[in-house]
Amino acid sequence: MRMEIDEARLSRELDELAKFSAAPAPAVTRVVYSPEERAARAYVKQLCRRLNLEVRDDAVGNTFARLPGSEPALPAIATGSHIDAIPNAGRFDGTVGVLGGLAAIRAIKAAALRPRRSIELIAFAAEEPTRFGIGCFSSRMLAGTLTAEAAAGLRDRVGRTLDELRAEAGYTAPLDSVRLPEGYYGAFLELHIEQGPRLDRSGTKVGIVTAIAAPASLLIDVEGEGGHAGAVLMAERRDALCAAAEIVLAAETAAKASGARDTVATIGICDVFPGAVNSIPSRVTLSLDVRDIDEGRRDGVLAAIAEACEETAARRGVEARTAVINKDAPAACDSRVMNALTMGAARHNRAHIRMVSRAYHDALFMARIAPTGMLFIPCRDGVSHRPDEYASPEDIAIGATVLAEALAELANDPE
Ligand code: GLV
Ligand code: MN
Ligand code: MN
Repeated sequence: MRMEIDEARLSRELDELAKFSAAPAPAVTRVVYSPEERAARAYVKQLCRRLNLEVRDDAVGNTFARLPGSEPALPAIATGSHIDAIPNAGRFDGTVGVLGGLAAIRAIKAAALRPRRSIELIAFAAEEPTRFGIGCFSSRMLAGTLTAEAAAGLRDRVGRTLDELRAEAGYTAPLDSVRLPEGYYGAFLELHIEQGPRLDRSGTKVGIVTAIAAPASLLIDVEGEGGHAGAVLMAERRDALCAAAEIVLAAETAAKASGARDTVATIGICDVFPGAVNSIPSRVTLSLDVRDIDEGRRDGVLAAIAEACEETAARRGVEARTAVINKDAPAACDSRVMNALTMGAARHNRAHIRMVSRAYHDALFMARIAPTGMLFIPCRDGVSHRPDEYASPEDIAIGATVLAEALAELANDPE
């Protein structure tokens, strides 16, 4: 079957979605449960309803839109991604997988195919860690990796609870209704921009993901002693920010010393208290994000950073406490799903490369409950999580085409 994607329409819908943003264009900021995210979700749901898909939300705001198959009792084949965006992000991270997934379902419908299995689009509630500090909180819940009890304890940076925020957005069902039973989906496929330069540099349009790297994130609290910036002499200080600065550099050193280019460590948040120009910092909170495709090596880097925290704290007379937010195992993609994507690309004469995903995705958690695969398309210079993130309409349409082929193939699979 040769699927036809309406490239201009998909591009227009992406433009429309990008308008729901708390930051001026070209930047996109869309935090889960914010007015912008709620309006963006309403827009996506409206597009799904126009296609006569069966739309439902769960208790945290994951949206599901189903094209019923001829044998609706069989586990459905799912596809999707996220529409939330980190502060000062671009327009394509996540959205390509949601609107590209919808375009794929539209193409399957237009081809007058009636696959045996239902095909379901998922627009996940929140892949980005912006609101609650934890990535993929809503797919973690679908997979049961984050329990309802643990989720009930989530708070955002100003102390608002998940329950408060989701109720305000109209989601009031019990949190323990979110988890999907094992075997609920026959497969899950996520289309996404690569967020790295490999495809763009090699001029290849399709990347088939073999594994998703293991992410870990921690909060590091450093407590020293505050005081007057003029009056306290240098020899008498226990400056929390100076200690934190050493920890930041120790994280960089530990990642570089791992011996593998796949190890990365980032400290992206540094909250300084009290945050006054003439006051010595008494408390600093750092966020630490460490990733690797090798879980053991990643854990070795975490241990080295923890040691550096202890050593720095002892030498500088401050306290450093770490709290683990998440420490996830990597996921391997399913060979049957990878083959369906490979065949889809071949049917359209598209060369592909197999590659690892260094970024995490909802697919990391969907892989815990369903055979999972991911399809990457190039983004310009590999740039992502920045306003100048760009993927061409043509490349997005190629991705949606290959996705449509793979979805149709898997949805007709009797197994
Ligand atoms: C996802 O946005 C990630 O940080 O990998
Ligand atoms: Mn992202
Ligand atoms: Mn993403």
